[in-house]
Amino acid sequence: MLVCTTRADTRNAVREWRRQGETLAFVPTMGFLHEGHLSLVREAALRCDRVAVSIFVNPTQFGPNEDLSTYPRALERDLELLEKEGVALVFTPDADEMYGHAGGTFVEVPELSGILQGALRPGHFRGVSTVVTKLFHIVQPDVAVFGEKDFQQLALIRQMVRDLDFPIEIVGHPTVRETDGLAMSSRNVRLTPAERAAAPVLNAALDAAEEQARREPGVTVEALEATVRAILSGCALGKVETVDLLDARSLQPATGPLRQAIVILLAVRFGQVLLIDQRVVEPG
Ligand code: PAJ
Repeated sequence: MLVCTTRADTRNAVREWRRQGETLAFVPTMGFLHEGHLSLVREAALRCDRVAVSIFVNPTQFGPNEDLSTYPRALERDLELLEKEGVALVFTPDADEMYGHAGGTFVEVPELSGILQGALRPGHFRGVSTVVTKLFHIVQPDVAVFGEKDFQQLALIRQMVRDLDFPIEIVGHPTVRETDGLAMSSRNVRLTPAERAAAPVLNAALDAAEEQARREPGVTVEALEATVRAILSGCALGKVETVDLLDARSLQPATGPLRQAIVILLAVRFGQVLLIDQRVVEPG
């Protein structure tokens, strides 16, 4: 496994593989890897000859009061895990390598960057679309795999790739969960034991809405939202930041009887940690 800290080394390795006619799949991450990340790596391996992974805690997607300095890191352990998965290349630049030469150009997907999580975290998605553009130009993959857990991020990357004609196929991968239903996240380690015990409430609320949609054909979106909010409000430790029920395709707010698929997006704060989760719910 090649571990590259510079853009030039990464490009050279990729150029050589391309010369040999090999295809490349890419999984961008911020490290502190868990089974969710590794399932993206396995999905990537099914699709191309070689897999590249980036590990970079991207400062431009963190707000001034967010957790950049305390974001968990474990590079040595991450590299061991990726080596076991048969990854061909890991790109682990520092912030200077990525931004030292940068003059302030950025990529923005205005339709998607300001709404939902973007309204909660100003500048976050501009940082994501800019760094992913840079990573795509450095790694030049045929395929890139992203988690559905970060539903808005995946929608934003798909839109950006369409709008700017990146020759890259974007693949979404389902959310991987702990056995009690909590969506895996690098930030879960920062929950206190009591918060960790309460955190599966997000998944429980999504399960309840999905079950209600199955049981009650024609149920309204408003009734589903009431169910979700009732379950979340039963959890004293979690402060509900946002509950959004949107048309799954347009991401516009959904209302009235459930006639086509919606996506439910949740953001709940436990102490310092903002947890998100999502579920696509089909009419019963
Ligand atoms: P990070 O949070 O490290 O996530 C990297 C990838 O793993 C993302 O595509 C994310 O959706 C996916 N992922 C995280 N938890 C998952 C889970 N439980 N199941 C399945 N997939 C999961 O997302 C980022 O980093 C950054 O914003 C990045 C795209 C790397 C840009 O900096």
